[in-house]
Amino acid sequence: MDSVVARMDLKQQIGQLVQFTSSGNIDEMIDIARSGMMGSILNDVDPEHVNRLQKAALESPSGIPILISRDVIHGYKTIFPIPLGQAATFDTALVRQGSEISAIEATADGIRWTFSPMIDIARDPRWGRIAEGYGEDPYLTSVMGAAAIRGYQGDGNLNKPTAIAACAKHFVGYGAATSGRDYNSTYIPLNQLHNVYLVPFEAAAKAGVQTYMSSFNDNDGVPSTGNKYILDDVLRGMWNFDGFVVSDWNSVGEMITHGFCADPKDAAYKAITAGLDMDMVSNCYLNELENLVKDGKIPASLITERCKNVVRVKYRLGLFDNPYIVTKQDVKYAPEHLAAAQKTAEESAVLIKNANNTLPLAANAKRILVTGPMADAPHDQLGTWVFDGDKEHTITPLKALQDNGNYQITYVPGLNYSRDNKTDGIAKAVAAAKNSDVILFVGGEESILSGEAHCLANLNLQGTQSQLLEALKKTGKPVVAVIMAGRPLTIRRDIDNCDAMIYMFHPGTMGGPALVNILSGKVNPSGKLPVTFPVSVGQVPVYYGKSMTGRPASGTEILLDAIPAEAGQTSLGCRSYHLDDGFYPLLPFGYGLSYTTFKYSDLTISGTSFSKGDVIKVSCKVANTGSVDGATVVQLYVRDLVGSIVRPVLELKDFRRVEIPAGKTVDVTFDLPVSRLEFFGLDNKFVLEPGKFKLWLAQDSNLKGALEGDFEVK
Ligand code: NOJ
Repeated sequence: MDSVVARMDLKQQIGQLVQFTSSGNIDEMIDIARSGMMGSILNDVDPEHVNRLQKAALESPSGIPILISRDVIHGYKTIFPIPLGQAATFDTALVRQGSEISAIEATADGIRWTFSPMIDIARDPRWGRIAEGYGEDPYLTSVMGAAAIRGYQGDGNLNKPTAIAACAKHFVGYGAATSGRDYNSTYIPLNQLHNVYLVPFEAAAKAGVQTYMSSFNDNDGVPSTGNKYILDDVLRGMWNFDGFVVSDWNSVGEMITHGFCADPKDAAYKAITAGLDMDMVSNCYLNELENLVKDGKIPASLITERCKNVVRVKYRLGLFDNPYIVTKQDVKYAPEHLAAAQKTAEESAVLIKNANNTLPLAANAKRILVTGPMADAPHDQLGTWVFDGDKEHTITPLKALQDNGNYQITYVPGLNYSRDNKTDGIAKAVAAAKNSDVILFVGGEESILSGEAHCLANLNLQGTQSQLLEALKKTGKPVVAVIMAGRPLTIRRDIDNCDAMIYMFHPGTMGGPALVNILSGKVNPSGKLPVTFPVSVGQVPVYYGKSMTGRPASGTEILLDAIPAEAGQTSLGCRSYHLDDGFYPLLPFGYGLSYTTFKYSDLTISGTSFSKGDVIKVSCKVANTGSVDGATVVQLYVRDLVGSIVRPVLELKDFRRVEIPAGKTVDVTFDLPVSRLEFFGLDNKFVLEPGKFKLWLAQDSNLKGALEGDFEVK
């Protein structure tokens, strides 16, 4: 590899650092490829074009193949649930399998690099991109991100023709956008950066991710694309990363708009010296790097070093041996891919409420009124970032129920799409309810309402959906509400207006059959919320891993309506809560019901005192105390009671999804390395501080019915 790069002249080396987007004119793209100035291209997935581009690149002066890339975010053709839904499975094996399938389908069109996984911690549901990540928690996001990387990258066999390079994005802090508005500035102090936002990115490095993407945001005034601390000191210095870093779309050029760089030359200078290898579409590298070397502003050796980082990944992908497409074309929507997507959708569904055991549907509940704007929305149930999946392959809830044959279906949409503000369909739906045994409302939000640049200040159900639900509830028939959405919505009122609720996020191609299996009881829901659901937008950001503060609320504080007139200044007590919406969120992280119940007992911890290097064995018994088989997610939380900086009230340190037959009990054991208790402390170093810890094995972060223990680190 070194000798190949050594033979390339400066211009050819710069070419490897340039990424184009397809202009739509393939002849123009081929000319650039033949000149050697195209290190990578995104957004051309025509297999014939891909092969022609590769041929041109092999004929260029350097003869280096091109890295063909695409946003394959939650499936290529077969669309899996959005990543936030995938996180709700708490099933890393499924997430890995989904990414592997995405890679198999994508490589059939010549794609060898995806801009996924997004492992931004997201604690603000207004931010539309919360859909694309794994939620609020650093540990859950770390293990899900690592699973996705392993799936894409062939479990370490990157040169398999069906493997693609993954990209850990957006490096870093992008999810902390002020006011949940995309691209907005972030203000993440160093301790929080290391203890929360960088955690999944380090896990990605350990999982062998080949590329990172620098994020759009400026953190405390420094845009990531020009941030030497993260791109160089942390990524290459602390984590020994030897792949390459690509900018986000035009984020080199946007450093001028930020007011951080004077012109394209300055932007190219700040990016290349900070540690950025490849420029996505801004052309600042293409037009300015050579001038910077000629002016003596940067040494040619810096370009060589960056070029090596890119070419190294191309070698690992086996592109030099197999530049052309060699995989099969007929893998798209393969039955086993659809089956995996369905299983993922089934496991991602979270049962929020199930009053009077409304679900599974009783044997005599045959006549179903299907209503709501997402009941038959083949495009919208796929979710955000679907460039290649065709809605013609989507199976909606309506279609799946009609195909099932066991039910008599009446379909009255009520509303045509999620933002529909009309009310005339409501009466029609209510009238149709008279002849039904149960009402199935499927609502939520269209796919366009979440994802990049699609942020909201109001998180109630859009349009007149809540009115429709309220009117349906008044019919007295049992109402099952299913929500398909890209984010947590503020659904307090809607929970009251239904008997059962399933939160499916956007479930992808196979959402319909997955839902029918849950309604019928063939599948027992096991999804758990990967993110806290707020009561109102005013509570945001609200997440379980918060600090205690000096004046925590107890949850028994006086709320607005109970305050007497002319109450005195200090008569309410001085606690940290909102007078109107209280202290607690609507639904806690980790929450999700089942058609059965579980009891945790017999906690054992393998000692009382541990030191660096030790592994703590934690175990318990979990009984399925109901009458149907089911799965629970045993969640291991700790609290470091006293720290040199205050530590979160709870931190998820491990979890295990276990399937337990009705009436049976299983043993669940965790190996918790003491090193997982380290944190980035006062001295800007990772430390393991001696002291007391509490530990819980819990069914959610509310800790109701949880087993509690203590240990000490010496
Ligand atoms: C901008 C997005 O922020 C990023 O996630 C995506 O991969 C690129 N565009 C390429 O489409």
